[in-house]
Order: sequence, then structure tokens, then C-alpha cells
Amino acid sequence: MYTPYQDYIHTLNNTLKYRKLPIFRQEKFSSVLDFSNNDYLGLSQHPKILKEAINAIQIYGMGAKSSRISSIYHPFCDQLETQIALDKKTEAALFFSSGFQANFSVLSAILDRGILGGCPVVFSDRLNHASIYQALLFSQCEWVRYRHLDTKHLQCLLEKYAKDSRPKFIVTETVFGMDGDTAPLKDIHALALKYKTFVYLDEAHATGLFGINGYGCSTLQDWSQVPHIIMGTFSKALGGSGAYIACSKILKEYLINKAQGFIYSTAPSPCVVAAALRAWNLIKTMNKERLHLKSLGESFRKMLTEQGEDIGSSTTHIIPIILKNEESVMEIQHYLGFKHIYVSGIRPPTVPPNQARLRIGLKALHTQEDLLRFMQEWKKLRENRIY
Ligand SMILES: Cc1ncc(COP(=O)(O)O)c(C=O)c1O
Repeated sequence: MYTPYQDYIHTLNNTLKYRKLPIFRQEKFSSVLDFSNNDYLGLSQHPKILKEAINAIQIYGMGAKSSRISSIYHPFCDQLETQIALDKKTEAALFFSSGFQANFSVLSAILDRGILGGCPVVFSDRLNHASIYQALLFSQCEWVRYRHLDTKHLQCLLEKYAKDSRPKFIVTETVFGMDGDTAPLKDIHALALKYKTFVYLDEAHATGLFGINGYGCSTLQDWSQVPHIIMGTFSKALGGSGAYIACSKILKEYLINKAQGFIYSTAPSPCVVAAALRAWNLIKTMNKERLHLKSLGESFRKMLTEQGEDIGSSTTHIIPIILKNEESVMEIQHYLGFKHIYVSGIRPPTVPPNQARLRIGLKALHTQEDLLRFMQEWKKLRENRIY
């Protein structure tokens, strides 16, 4: 039977934009050098977390069986939310099944025109994640994009809207997932105070690694004078899945009553929440791993820039090698894969046009030798002009 989807796939198939799932390869783990995932602290394999998850399955079973709204839930979630609020210095927290679900449902709930009594104006960093983009589209807000990390541009735009009495929001990631650079939170805080805006922060790639005890960049700033929501995930440095929203008590109550992805979705499995709680409590003990990751980042960025590579404005464990050309990116990803080195090839629309790149995600389990092994292959590529 003919469907228009066939045409779409057919057209895409002949371009570099066609996406397909990587095939699982049974390989000796020891020979693989994996820079392609976000398990930054190696917690996805941590024995204490695995034990906690297994224990939760044995007590509570596999599934949560219903939405949290309609049935009594296990106790880990309350414990986790209390602990998150404490460490994020907010009144309350709420757990979601995934980061995408949290961003989409929370942003669309707080941007509800009916509740706000008019169309909100949202100032959004132009490189924010797709889940934020989708939520802003869905909410039909007035969407004002500012240049990536550019608070001067943000200020100009805020000034332009200064006499506009509609509710205003600033939305940004704190560590950017594709660029590995960080948002200027001090400036954003000052602008939010001056122009009386709400602030929404996405700490997906910062949670576990930055701020006080690894609890995110937001912990370095006092947000008590600015209405705010901080979102972060358990799917990256915390090695599991799910996401948190840290906010005021009243906003938590509002989200429980309004966030569609919370109300109309089965709660996260008990083992996921138990693992999240263990991981959350573990990260405050992982300063050594954070320091190691920081120093790996510094040496890798140095090695790559000495080699003449464009690594954009990365200052963290996420390092893009910006090649621009999509074909080269995919060819090199393929080539490195054969050498048992996994990196992610990132193309538009995930990144802007002409910004195709290899994305390197460093992990605390990596060593200086791993970086040297990568550089050896990389130099061969360059010398032999494989691209
Ligand atoms: C900045 C950012 N926010 C949100 C998400 C979504 O998180 P999750 O993978 O838990 O759905 C991601 C995932 O890549 C992300 O990079």
C-alpha cells in the first residue's frame, strides 16, 4: 500500500541525512574505545547501582503499573525528590521518565497561554536541544532566539521587549550537548533580575559533573530572587534514565496538575528510580573522577588544537571536531569504527548547516593512553588524507 512516508524515506535515502540504527557488534570490550555515549562517570555499570536496581525489582516488580496520579507508588521516588530539592537548593523536585518528556511537558505546561493570560515571550539560546525546540513550537509562544551564549545579544532583545508586559522566559542548556561549552549563568541571572523574566535551565549534560558536589551549574548561583525551574537528566553522567525538575512547591503542584507527560504516562519503573537515587547520592563522592575528566578534557582539547582541528568553543568533556562536510564526518566515523574507536557523527539538523562534526564524549573511565590511541589513528587519517 502506498503511503507518503515512502516518498520521504526514498528521498532521504539518497542523502547523507538518512539515519539508521547502528548494528550491535559482539566485540571484546577491552579493544573498544568508546567516545560515542554519555555515560560520563561510568555509572551505568556501577555495582552498587546495579544492586539497588535488582533489589527494587525483587521487592516491587518490574513495572510501575500506572501513572503516579492514579496509584500508590513505591517510596524511592519521594526520597529521591526530597534529596534532589535539598542538593539543588529548591523547595521541591519532581521525577520524570525521560529528559525529553520532562522538557516537552514542563515547558508546554508553564507556557500555557490560558494560564498566563496571554502569549508568553521566550528568549531561547539558538542551540538549545530538540526537546526544548519542540516544546516551544507546541506552546505557540512568541519565540525569540538569541545567538549562542551571547548575553549582549540577549540583552538587546530583552531591551527591545522591555515595555512589553507579557510574561517573559529565558531558556538555556547549562552545558551544551553538541558543543561542550557552558552558558554564562551569572549574566543570565543578572538579566533575569533586571528584566523580570522566568529562567528555565536544562542541566542534562552538567548533572553529575559541574557545580557543588556535581549537582549542576545552577548550584553555583543563588536563584532565590528569580522565578526558575531547573531540569536535569539521569540518562547521561548518572548512567540510568529519567529526569528531574527542581522548582518551588507551588510549581511542583502546578506540574502534577498540568504537565501532560506526567499525568498521562505510566510512572518510571521502580528499579529506574532506585538506581537514580543511588546514583544521585554517589555523585557527591566522585570529586576524583570529576577532576580526572576535567584534566582529560584539557589534554584532549590541547592535542586536537595543536593538530589544527576546529573544536569550536568547547571547555568541557564534550569535544566536537567540526569538519563541516557531512560526507567526511560519516566516512571518518565509519573508518574509526573499523579501528574499534566509536565516535558520533553529528549532522544537520541536529547542528546548524555546515557545522557537521564528530562528537567526542569523554568519560572518567578513559585514560591518557586512550587519548593517545585516538590521536595516533587521527594523525594517520590526516597524513593519508583519508578525508
Ligand atoms: C540538553 C538535553 N536535554 C534533554 C535531553 C533529553 O534527555 P533524555 O535522553 O533523558 O530523554 C537531551 C538528550 O540528549 C539533551 O542533550
